[in-house]
Formats: sequence, C-alpha cells, structure tokens
Amino acid sequence: MHNKIFNFINKKNKSKIVTLTAYSKNIATIIDDHCDLILVGDSLGSVLYNYNTTKKVNLNTMIEHSKSVRMGIKKSLMVVDMPHNTYRSPNEALKNAKKIIKKTKCDAVKLEGGRKIYNIVQLLIKNKIPVMGHLGVLPQSAKNFRYKGKKISERKKILKDAKFLESAGVFSIVLECIETSLAKLVTQSIKIPTIGIGASSHCDGQVLVTDDLIGLNPINVRFVKKYLNLRKIIKKAVVNYKKEVKKLKFPNKRNSY
Ligand code: KIV
Repeated sequence: MHNKIFNFINKKNKSKIVTLTAYSKNIATIIDDHCDLILVGDSLGSVLYNYNTTKKVNLNTMIEHSKSVRMGIKKSLMVVDMPHNTYRSPNEALKNAKKIIKKTKCDAVKLEGGRKIYNIVQLLIKNKIPVMGHLGVLPQSAKNFRYKGKKISERKKILKDAKFLESAGVFSIVLECIETSLAKLVTQSIKIPTIGIGASSHCDGQVLVTDDLIGLNPINVRFVKKYLNLRKIIKKAVVNYKKEVKKLKFPNKRNSY
C-alpha cells in the first residue's frame, strides 16, 4: 500500500483528520500545511459553475481543476472526485480513473455509493488505484438532500454499505449528512477512517467545502460553519479601489512606469 495512504489510515483513533476541498492552486497552497487530505470535489459544479446538480460536472472540468490544485499541494493526500457517469461499469471506471491519475498526479479517487459499486472499487484497487468511498447523501444521485439515518432501513443500508466498501478495499469513507448515532456506529464498526460532513464529531475526521468555510460561497446550511466573511472583506477592498480610481489616487507614481 502507498505510504501516504497507510499513514492516513493510521490516524484513526489517534488524531482527528482535517480535510478541505480545493478547486485551484492558490487555495491549495494556503490550506496544504493544515490539512491531511485535500479533495477536488465535484461540488465545484454548484460552487463555481452555478449548476443545480453535480451531475452536470464532466471529467475534463475535474481534470483541469485538479491539475491546478496539484501545483499547490506539497504534503496533503490529494483525492479527486470521479464525476457522474464516469464509473457506470468497472471498465469505464478503470479507464477514467487511470486518466485522472495520469493527468492530475492525484493520490486517489472518490466514488459515491455502496454495494452497487463493489465490483468497480475492487477493480480499481486491483489496479493499484486507491479509492475513497462516499455514503449518506449522495449528490450525484440524490432525489433530495435530507439527512439520512432516521429510518431503520436507511440505517441498516448505510452500515452494510460501509462494511461492503471496507471489504472492497477503500481506504476511507466520507459520510455526508447522516444522523449522529449512525455516524458513531459506522465509525466504530469499520477499521478505516470516516470523514464527516454534516455527520457529527463522532467521525474520524471532518471535511468542509473551503468556499463555504471562508464565506465566499453564499450558502446557509446547518452543517456549514463560516469561519470568515470573505465576501465582506473583498467588497471592502473593491470599494476602496473604486474610490481611489475615481479620485486619481490609484495608480500613483509607484504603480506607474
Ligand atoms: O464534492 C465535494 O466537495 C464532496 C465533499 C462535500 C465531501 O464530495
């Protein structure tokens, strides 16, 4: 097993795992020192492109953003989301995962789903492509974004799927929007780390979309904590710039040739 992946798994029950998304080099450069894992998430579809679903994100877009992110990462594990319709069969998944790895030099890919993707995950891992799983709310196929784990059937399925993914060989699983006691149960039932988003502090680590955390993406959902209001800060800078342009204060001699 890849050394970086082994060290990542080893953090379970030792130290909480810090994960964030990045879609570009500049953000990756800032967060790399403070993260264990950086995810190029297909959430970029809604955050950057205003798509109403991540289903519209294609492979090329993921690859181009990932190439940019790669330039900003020195130490974190880099994982790239395989977008919708790029892993409908084991062979399609292998072809596209190989392309992602070759073009972006990422460490692993992430796929959404449980038992249904068991054969796909197995084939990727057999071909030495590390895979991260994703359970709970699955944006690539979700009909609604309500949290999971209220119904007994849902709880049983998510726990079973987590065990399936573990046995297929994934090195970690993202748990998106699942009920607290279910997140705890899943985390305690598998040996690989769970990374939660809207899935309580019982997970082995947490992930947030960086644009949400810094207050750049105007979103208000329960599981997001905004640590900064970057929109306000940018606005202030732009208002100052505008004022100085109008008053002929910018550019001054030092900004001119
Ligand atoms: O696409 C994404 O950013 C994700 C995270 C929210 C886990 O899958």
